[in-house]
Amino acid sequence: MEVPSRPTGVPVLLWALAAQLVLCGSGLCASDHTKSCKLLFESESERRVLRRLEPITRKNFTVETKNGSESYTYVFQLCGDAGGVQQAGLIQMSSTPKKTTVIGMYNATQAIGGSDWVILIYRNGERYDAHCSQEQRRAIVMISCNTKMDVGQLNVVVEDRDRQQDCFYLFELDTSAVCPHVEYQLSTGSIILIIGFCVLAVYLIGGFLYQRLVVGAKGMEQFPNYAFWVEVGNLTADGCDFVCRSRNREEPPTYRGVVTEPLEEEPEERDDHLLPM
Ligand SMILES: *[C@@H]1O[C@H](CO)[C@@H](O)[C@H](O)[C@H]1NC(C)=O
Ligand SMILES: *[C@@H]1O[C@H](CO)[C@@H](O)[C@H](O)[C@H]1NC(C)=O
Repeated sequence: MEVPSRPTGVPVLLWALAAQLVLCGSGLCASDHTKSCKLLFESESERRVLRRLEPITRKNFTVETKNGSESYTYVFQLCGDAGGVQQAGLIQMSSTPKKTTVIGMYNATQAIGGSDWVILIYRNGERYDAHCSQEQRRAIVMISCNTKMDVGQLNVVVEDRDRQQDCFYLFELDTSAVCPHVEYQLSTGSIILIIGFCVLAVYLIGGFLYQRLVVGAKGMEQFPNYAFWVEVGNLTADGCDFVCRSRNREEPPTYRGVVTEPLEEEPEERDDHLLPM
């Protein structure tokens, strides 16, 4: 029994795979975890900034700070539950007493970006107890380009809370994700080179097939325009001989005679005489 769908199954699969590769290559099939971030004010430009951070989503970044006897661990996640705390983009965990404080929520995100940096702001954290007029905490994460690493360590820069309002926790993070895109654009020179190679390949293959199948040539004669290229080769050799040789060519007359003789004896294979004049 023959199963007709079987032989076509594999090619279809391959085509699907190829199509997906092409789509992914153009960035159309990439998953977008940054969608989980809710922007304070939805805007396409901020979305674009956020999408640049896709490579560092779904990862807990942690950093520990010690201040005397106090020790804090901060956990940051891009558009995901930091340390598993619902809707929290950045949390602070203190060991004594054991306490988790939400610094910022990713459902209140702002994203600002430049050529090789992104500033991510998570707002609506827990209120300060005494500082900053008891406003809501806010986390600012400065994400900078570093071509040397996929993603580096999270660092605490400062906790600025000794003022009346607009307090913030500032962090920094290095990643290659926000580096300017290396455009895989071909320069004019390479395009010309590629076209040249293509033309050459078409010429050689087409000419070869023509010589072999239509003209019926054998051996070296299968090269397209064989006679012409042989002539070019000889002329080049002559030119090189003329330019590069330091000794005078006229000096050994006997040698010259040997060279010219066979040339004259060369059988003239041209078939011009067959043409009716
Ligand atoms: C982040 O940490 C929390 C708590 O430790 C954990 O439940 C969660 O799976 C982690 N997420 C990722 C993406 O590692
Ligand atoms: C963000 O999520 C928290 C917790 O689920 C909720 O209380 C808050 O209203 C949400 N904020 C926004 C701006 O959606």
